[in-house]
Amino acid sequence: MASQLPDGDPAPSNGSLPAGTSTNGPFSVYVHVPFCRTRCGYCDFNTYTAAELGGLSTDTFLDAARAELDLASTVVGERQVQTVFFGGGTPTMLPAAELVALLGAVRERFPLAAGAEVTTEANPDSVDQDYLAALRDGGFTRISMGLQSVVPHVLATLDRTHTPGRGVEAARWAADVGFEHVSLDLIYGTPGESVDDWRASLDAVTAVPVDHVSAYSLIVEQGTRLAVRVRRGELAMPDDDDLADKYLVADERLSALGFHNYETSNWALPGGECRHNLAYWRGANWWGIGPGAHSHVGGVRFWNRKHPRAYAQALASGVSPAQGREVLTDDERRVERVLLELRLAEGLPLDVLTPTERARVPALEREGLVGVEGDRLVVRRRLLADGIICDLLD
Ligand SMILES: C[S@@+](CC[C@H](N)C(=O)[O-])C[C@H]1O[C@@H](n2cnc3c(N)ncnc32)[C@H](O)[C@@H]1O
Ligand code: SF4
Repeated sequence: MASQLPDGDPAPSNGSLPAGTSTNGPFSVYVHVPFCRTRCGYCDFNTYTAAELGGLSTDTFLDAARAELDLASTVVGERQVQTVFFGGGTPTMLPAAELVALLGAVRERFPLAAGAEVTTEANPDSVDQDYLAALRDGGFTRISMGLQSVVPHVLATLDRTHTPGRGVEAARWAADVGFEHVSLDLIYGTPGESVDDWRASLDAVTAVPVDHVSAYSLIVEQGTRLAVRVRRGELAMPDDDDLADKYLVADERLSALGFHNYETSNWALPGGECRHNLAYWRGANWWGIGPGAHSHVGGVRFWNRKHPRAYAQALASGVSPAQGREVLTDDERRVERVLLELRLAEGLPLDVLTPTERARVPALEREGLVGVEGDRLVVRRRLLADGIICDLLD
């Protein structure tokens, strides 16, 4: 969740959606927990250390999140949810009992569908075996562990506080206590990281029974300590060729282990795909609870006040915490589908394209950039996906 919120239109104080907005279709809930013990130098997510919060308590956040759940259920009615995702920040900064109680608050308003996926992100430092067992017993089905790297100098450059072995150990504990799905987040392209360093981090996947890997290229976000260090010349970011090599190394290594690249930056064993993220990419409806959280319901996007204090104050005064919203036109929704679904291995139904766009497909196909599988268009050269989409769109 990047630090800048869009401008958008004002959002109504009672949280209502425009008349006629359809809330039909699969529904998911995201909960943003905006706490971290320390801030990693590369991260500009909407998250705060205790010192930055100036005394704002986790109880204030939990009360506000419950109040927003009440508001959400008033607006969309009682809906079964297919997936729930706790992200952050570091949701596992909350005691396990509080995280489980917050999931209980979600379930009271939004009962879980049979076989629902319930994920939390976790930092290796903030969990132990008992903690993970409590989450498992409390109804969580999936853990997404922020491993990033197993190489000491890479972890140091990223300001990660855990030892190289801790992330692997924590992922193993998650599997041991019975989580159905365990995912690792990895980052490549950290200054000073060699291809062999990156291979070592990928090898961690062989050391634990994980069924999902997200591999992100390190982004230098403005305003972060990393950006300052790069600007001062203290750290040199790798060039595009190095990043492309590392992406291909990841794809080769993970494919050899039976993982398939189901989204540009995500690989899974069959059945290990993250259903919550698939819901985002397929344009489903979800309500984002928490400071700065974004929601999408029936073609309406809205986003909450960013600071936990402003978020909690709005809810304590009985008004919606939404700061702005945009009502997407049919064409904006169509373009979003093209942008998001072409990131997926399953691709995009060809009939989403306009006739002019469809007429561009054969040329791209001859260059080996895209392929047509039945009635769907798929990107063949994933590293060039952004350029391919630009060439395709009107
Ligand atoms: C909310 S964090 C995951 C949970 C926990 N806070 C942690 O870091 O272990 C989500 C993920 O975003 C990724 N991320 C954050 N900032 C990034 C950046 N600037 N470039 C690439 N990936 C980034 C990291 O891989 C991180 O694991
Ligand atoms: S622990 Fe995770 S959310 Fe927190 S600062 Fe680091 S990467 Fe960002």
